[in-house]
Amino acid sequence: MAIRSPVVNVMANAALKAARGLLRDFGEVEQLQVSVKGPGEFVSTADLKAEHTLRAELARARPGYGLLFEESGSSEGSDRHHRWIVDPLDGTTNFLHGIPHFAISIALERDGEIVAGAVYEPTRDEMFWAEKGAGAFLNDRRLRVSARRRLDEAVIGTGIPYRDRGDHAIYLATLARVMAATSGVRRLGSAALDLAYVAAGRYDGYWEFATQPWDIAAGILLVREAGGFVSDLAGGQTMLTSGDVLAANGPLHLPLAALLKEAIRTAAPNPA
Ligand code: IPD
Ligand code: CA
Ligand code: CA
Repeated sequence: MAIRSPVVNVMANAALKAARGLLRDFGEVEQLQVSVKGPGEFVSTADLKAEHTLRAELARARPGYGLLFEESGSSEGSDRHHRWIVDPLDGTTNFLHGIPHFAISIALERDGEIVAGAVYEPTRDEMFWAEKGAGAFLNDRRLRVSARRRLDEAVIGTGIPYRDRGDHAIYLATLARVMAATSGVRRLGSAALDLAYVAAGRYDGYWEFATQPWDIAAGILLVREAGGFVSDLAGGQTMLTSGDVLAANGPLHLPLAALLKEAIRTAAPNPA
């Protein structure tokens, strides 16, 4: 049986409370699909309401902590050591289209290091959580990354850039390499859940460029505490600043990193 620390309980309870509102609103969104105006504005309000609930709950339980929230930005707290990093709705496009795959992501940073994380998927009632040194869990079950060692048997998650986001040519070069080497690529639409799925062994790996800290902070800890590896695409640890992220189980992290590196090298214009 998994024993949650008080701070993980704070995170999980805040997520459960915000999720109740999101689930109600998700039901409405399904109705709004067929209206001429569409659910766009309604979804932005749902997102803001979830953020408001999370802010209130987290601040009530830990009043001095700093905050980094997707919608309302960052604010320093009286406690300079701790900061919440929160995405109230990760997978907004799915939510907007009535696709039941989205999450609330909450990470706790202490002195620049992520020490606790929770990613909650309301439609399946899946609470992924981790605490540094204590392991990663899905509800009460301990998580381990997959044991797959062969790329040709691996299923890899990704995030595909869209509209003017990111460098499409470089992304397509990486996709081409991973497609050719593996058992399949998935784009489910929530970076936080992509990382949680690596932690749960559902995916063998995941990569994406240009994410934001609130997309990945909690998920990075989930993967590490489940025995996996997380780096940027050059093998460094700049994920929270560069936004580039590669997560995988132990045996597949290096081979995937090598594939991606080669793809980026051959796609990028030669600086010489
Ligand atoms: C997005 C999702 C998506 C990822 C994007 C993120 P949002 O977050 O995580 O999977 O590919 O990079 O921006 O906008 O739904 O909170
Ligand atoms: Ca997000
Ligand atoms: Ca979001």
